[in-house]
Amino acid sequence: MINTSTTDSKTSLNRKTPPTIIIIFGASGDLTARKLAPAIFNLSKDNLLPKKCFLIGYGRSAISDESFKNEIKEALDAHSRRKIEASTWNTLEKNLIFHAGAYDDLNSFLTLEKKISKIEKQIDCKAQCLFYVSTPPGVFMPILENLGESGLAKRHRGTETASKVIIEKPFGRNLQSAHELNQVINKRFDESQVFRIDHYLGKETVQSLLVQRFANSIFEPVWNRNYVSSVQITVSEDIGVGNRGGYYDKSGALRDMIQNHVMQLLALTAMEPPSSLDPESIRDEKVKALKALKPLAIEGESPDVVRASYAAGLVGGLPTKAYLDEEGIPQDSGTETYAAMRLYLDNWRWKGVPFYLRSGKRLAMKASEIVVQFTRPPAILFGQDSRLKVSPNLLVIRIQPNEGVTLYLNSKTPGLETKLQPIKLAFGYETTFGSDTPEAYERLILDALNGDGTLFIRGDEAEMSWGLLSPVLDYWDSQGRQGLESYASGTWGPLAADKLLLGSGHEWITGRSYD
Ligand code: NDP
Ligand code: BG6
Repeated sequence: MINTSTTDSKTSLNRKTPPTIIIIFGASGDLTARKLAPAIFNLSKDNLLPKKCFLIGYGRSAISDESFKNEIKEALDAHSRRKIEASTWNTLEKNLIFHAGAYDDLNSFLTLEKKISKIEKQIDCKAQCLFYVSTPPGVFMPILENLGESGLAKRHRGTETASKVIIEKPFGRNLQSAHELNQVINKRFDESQVFRIDHYLGKETVQSLLVQRFANSIFEPVWNRNYVSSVQITVSEDIGVGNRGGYYDKSGALRDMIQNHVMQLLALTAMEPPSSLDPESIRDEKVKALKALKPLAIEGESPDVVRASYAAGLVGGLPTKAYLDEEGIPQDSGTETYAAMRLYLDNWRWKGVPFYLRSGKRLAMKASEIVVQFTRPPAILFGQDSRLKVSPNLLVIRIQPNEGVTLYLNSKTPGLETKLQPIKLAFGYETTFGSDTPEAYERLILDALNGDGTLFIRGDEAEMSWGLLSPVLDYWDSQGRQGLESYASGTWGPLAADKLLLGSGHEWITGRSYD
């Protein structure tokens, strides 16, 4: 069994998880190796899984249980944040099973059901199944249909061992497909069984955003159009597409990052205070914020959106390939590896405040940041001449790396002359709390096991975000490579993205040194 502890589940919230079987569809994939297997085993190491816990890997190749165990062991050695000792592993591996089957073959699901029933006989009690759909999005639909058709979705419904399903992102390819997925989910599952994952919501710093906003009274009075002049959200990566070219070329930056991770950061930054911390209240407020987003100007003189693809360049001092030269990328690919946009919310709080979003691969560095830029004070006492230059106050919320929050203020430099300089009040998670923070997937898998959907996305949230972005994707599809900008790898993206801010008095902050 996966858990070696003598005590049963003791989550921080004191919930007791029933005996569990986790079934991963797409278990031979990158996500399972890098994130899911390490998360499950770290939860186990912290005694946060039930004593009776099994992991079934599901995939199309007929590999043996032994080979699966070897794959998982290698993945843990390579990617777990903590070492897995031999004694723990020896106990863990007994409960790893592989089930070979196609994703669109009902029979494979019926034989899976038999395997699950056999485990229940072996442990002599009912177990909850947590199905984790971790395949490319094109396969989500047949998996969900077959979970329904085989009866696996309905197992023990209405009891504490009811089946649950986690569905990876992106949730669909556009508004239409997200809507179709939601329809199948509504037909086959109760919403309480469904967990649409966005791993950014499991990051400590993202969870902390609500605490920063609503547990500190100093922010609320200034968190609006009267004091905020712009909000920027950057989620940049220095890596390229690596060996995920097949998936990425069908996806692109807008589907892969903006539709989900970046829009969730926007929703949490812009939403109104929820009436309580229960999942529905928070999701209701996020949906309202997304609903308030004005449609984007896609073409014309001053479009609100920019897309680009990386050219060769230098990253960390090493030469890197252009996107078109990466493995599996067609020479005529029009897929964007970078997207930036300017958005407005048509509501009372944010009327007229631009929200600038950008995300891309092969940029200058990995950084996820929310920057709230405040309005300048009137230029009466300071600000008229260059020595008395008043810099805008900035609140920089660093999601990763160097997780923390920095507030930039203006200060007088010491000396007889009056000169101003921006200074920072900085808080770093690691300095304050230490570095052994659980990974996002640990938190999210645990929450799903315990039926807590707070940090997951509701169906209408996903559709709302697609509703805004689908017209952009349709337009880009129709244009092929026309209008697709280029940027050298290792830079901060195309010049066209700077033009989004032109004349507004703003500039991209992340990557600029304020020290
Ligand atoms: P992979 O491309 O590695 O695919 C996972 C598995 O799905 C494969 O090993 C394969 O398993 C099966 N598969 C792949 N292509 C197809 C296909 N065309 N038809 C049927 N089955 C296929 O994906 P990842 O593991 O990278 O990602 C899984 C999901 O998680 C995706 O939805 C992705 O968007 C999401 N995600 C991934 C992240 C990452 O860093 N990798 C991060 C966050 C989310 P087999 O051949 O054994 O059946
Ligand atoms: C995933 C994307 O959702 O997020 C990947 O599919 C991306 O392309 C990854 O690399 C980034 O996640 P993180 O946690 O490293 O910022």
